[in-house]
Amino acid sequence: MAKARILSGMQPTGQLHLGNYEGALRNWVRLQEEYESYYCIVDWHALTTLCETPEQIQHNTRQVAIDYISAGLDPNKCAIFIQSAVKEHAELHLLLSMITPVPWLERVPTYKEKMENLQIESASYGLLGYPVLQAADILVYKANAVPVGKDQLPHLELTREICRRFNYFYGKIFPEPEAKLTEYPVMPGLDGRKMSKSYDNAIYLSDTAETTTQKIRTMFTDPLKIYKKDPGHPETCPVFALHNIYNKGETEELSVVCKAGELGCVDCKKKLTAAMNEALAPIRERRVQLEENPKELDDILTAGADKARAVASATMAEVRCAMKLG
Ligand code: TRP
Ligand code: SF4
Repeated sequence: MAKARILSGMQPTGQLHLGNYEGALRNWVRLQEEYESYYCIVDWHALTTLCETPEQIQHNTRQVAIDYISAGLDPNKCAIFIQSAVKEHAELHLLLSMITPVPWLERVPTYKEKMENLQIESASYGLLGYPVLQAADILVYKANAVPVGKDQLPHLELTREICRRFNYFYGKIFPEPEAKLTEYPVMPGLDGRKMSKSYDNAIYLSDTAETTTQKIRTMFTDPLKIYKKDPGHPETCPVFALHNIYNKGETEELSVVCKAGELGCVDCKKKLTAAMNEALAPIRERRVQLEENPKELDDILTAGADKARAVASATMAEVRCAMKLG
């Protein structure tokens, strides 16, 4: 039996942080074993807000690709590619835009949020159509499932609605893709808030062991634990939350000695740093290799786009035939 297909993508926001890794990438790495997998970097989507220069988008796109591969996406097991290298996404986006009612798009929460957060007075056609492009990304591979975070559920629901509408008008071409949510622990940032690039509290996959050590040293702990002898509250301490992710084996004991006033935060952080640096070492090594070897990255992305295009162009042939085009 053929494997089910999945597609997912990220915007080229620059280097990915540990929250992106634990919340998405790690899951993608696992899924590539079970599914026929397509993973892209959606550089066209980055143009919808005009926040970055073309050079920045190009640079960030490559950085995200390096993170994908370093984190364990294997070009022999999945297709890793840049959205704009597969023009079929754009053709399908155009055709889907014909059957997508504007009010559906105006209702999408991320659209309103972007308008407010970025103080956009009049949205571009492309910003409004962001979810239509996302639907095209997914449907052009006839993906059965889409591994995404909760924040993407409204986009995925819209994809399903567009899918049904297309199938209703032109015949059943697309399977209805399902969201594939995974539960994962929230990654705390250095200040205890959720790790996020915009809070400036992130540890990046590209950070060196030294930078990581330095960052952990500044990390917030339990404010009630000033001296080693003070009883701490690991359940609310962000350092402890990271132990829970990177140092599972030791957490029970650490919790006991923290509460008993037998462990100081400095030592606790040293243990964490050691565990994190060990866990992240293979990713960092691979990252450095790829940074030094742009040709290798180019080859992987070209092969990924070729593999993706083969599927996307077959879908588009069917779509054109169903719509009596070209
Ligand atoms: N909108 C997604 C995000 O911001 C990125 C994205 C674009 C995507 N196309 C996609 C995610 C297709 C999954 C599938 O994270
Ligand atoms: Fe947090 Fe560790 Fe300090 Fe306890 S000892 S408060 S777990 S940093």
